[in-house]
Amino acid sequence: MALIMNLLPLLFLGALVHSNQSVVPLISFKIGENVTYDCIDIFMQSGLDHPLLKNHTIQMKPSVSRTKLKSQIGINKVQKQKIPCPDETIPVLRNTKEFVTNAQVLADKHFHPLTADSPGTHISGVRSHNGPYRGVEASFEVVSVDIAKDQASYSQIYIGSGSNNEVNFISAGWMVNPSLFGDGRTWTYGFWKGKDGKGCYNMACSGFVQVSQKVPIFKPIGFRAGETVWLHYSIHQDKNTGNWWLTEALGLGEPGVDLGYWPKELFNLLDNGANMVGAGGVVQASRSGSSPEMGNGQFPNVNHPENSALLTNIEVLDSSYEQHKMNYVPTEVVLDSPKCYGLTIGKRFIFRRNRYGFYLNYGGPGGNSCGV
Ligand SMILES: *[C@@H]1O[C@H](CO)[C@@H](O)[C@H](O)[C@H]1NC(C)=O
Ligand SMILES: *[C@@H]1O[C@H](CO)[C@@H](O)[C@H](O)[C@H]1NC(C)=O
Repeated sequence: MALIMNLLPLLFLGALVHSNQSVVPLISFKIGENVTYDCIDIFMQSGLDHPLLKNHTIQMKPSVSRTKLKSQIGINKVQKQKIPCPDETIPVLRNTKEFVTNAQVLADKHFHPLTADSPGTHISGVRSHNGPYRGVEASFEVVSVDIAKDQASYSQIYIGSGSNNEVNFISAGWMVNPSLFGDGRTWTYGFWKGKDGKGCYNMACSGFVQVSQKVPIFKPIGFRAGETVWLHYSIHQDKNTGNWWLTEALGLGEPGVDLGYWPKELFNLLDNGANMVGAGGVVQASRSGSSPEMGNGQFPNVNHPENSALLTNIEVLDSSYEQHKMNYVPTEVVLDSPKCYGLTIGKRFIFRRNRYGFYLNYGGPGGNSCGV
C-alpha cells in the first residue's frame, strides 16, 4: 500500500495550550488511513511525564551522531518521507485510549532475550554477552507478514543488562503486531524496560524522549510491489550524558537522523554500558499455539541470502566506543525452534552491486508444532 503520499494538514490552531495533561497540537498531519501525527511542543511531550524524569533536561542532540552508512543498502524513498513539524515541535502519533492500554498490557509481557523462556515466543538471532557494550546498529530488510490478530512477528537490535531478577533492556526495529497497533501493517518501533521492571513501546507511554522534528519513532512502513524496504537503526549510549540514543540512517552520504533517546534515569543496570547486545527475528504464537511466519516466511538458503529476511551490517560499539563488525566479538547463535525457523550467518556478500557486511539470514514458515 502506498501510504505516505500526501501530507494533508488537518487542522491548524494558533497556539499551544497545555491543560490537564492534554496538549493541543499546533498542527497535525494525516499520512494514511488511521495514521495522524500531531506536532507537539517538544517540552510538553508525554515522554517527559515519567516520574523518574521529574528533573530531566532534554538533550537536544547526541554528543556524537553515530550513524553514517558505509555502503548503499537500497533504502526506500518512502522511508525518507518526513513529517514537516514546525520548529520546537515533534511529531507524535495520535493514539486511541485503547492503544495506550494495549501497549501497557503488552509491554508487561514483552519478551526480552535476557530472561527465561517466554511461552509461545521463538527467536532466531545472534547475541554477545561479553560487554560492556555502548551500542549496536544494523540494517533491516523490512517485510510485510500476514499474521493472525493475536500473533506478532518482528525483527530487532537490542542492548541489555541483567542481574538477579532485574533486567534493563532497549530494542528497536520493525514489528507486525495487530493487538498492539490495531492493524496488520509493519511499523517501526522502540521498546524499553527499566529500573522498576516497567517498560513501554514508545511513545505509547512516558519514557522515550523524541527530539527529531521530522522523523517519528513510530511509523507505518509503506510497501510497493517489487521494492525492498530497508531500515537502518543504531542504538548507542551518549558518552557525556549516559542517555541511550536511537538514530536512523536515511541513505548513503546523508546524515543520520537522531530520533530521540531513552534517558539514563530510566535504568539502573546500564550506567556504564550494556552486558549484552543482539539482533534477530522474534515471533509470538497465538493463544491456540499457532506460530506465525518469521521474516518473509522463507528458511535461509546459504547460497541465496537474498531469498530470506536479512539483517546486515551488524556492528557493535565496545566499551571504549570503538566500532566493530559483530563477528569481531564473541558471538553466539540463539535458535530455539529450528523445525520452524532457521538462521545462517555470514561475513559478507554482494547482491545487485550492494555490499553487505556481517549478516544474518533468518526466518521460516512457523506452524502449529514449533514448541513452547
Ligand atoms: C529531583 O530533584 C529534587 C531536588 O534536588 C530531589 O529531591 C528529587 O529526588 C529529584 N527527583 C528525581 C526523580 O530525581
Ligand atoms: C482504520 O480503523 C478502522 C476502525 O478501527 C478499521 O476498521 C480499519 O481497518 C483501519 N484501517 C487500517 C488500514 O488499518
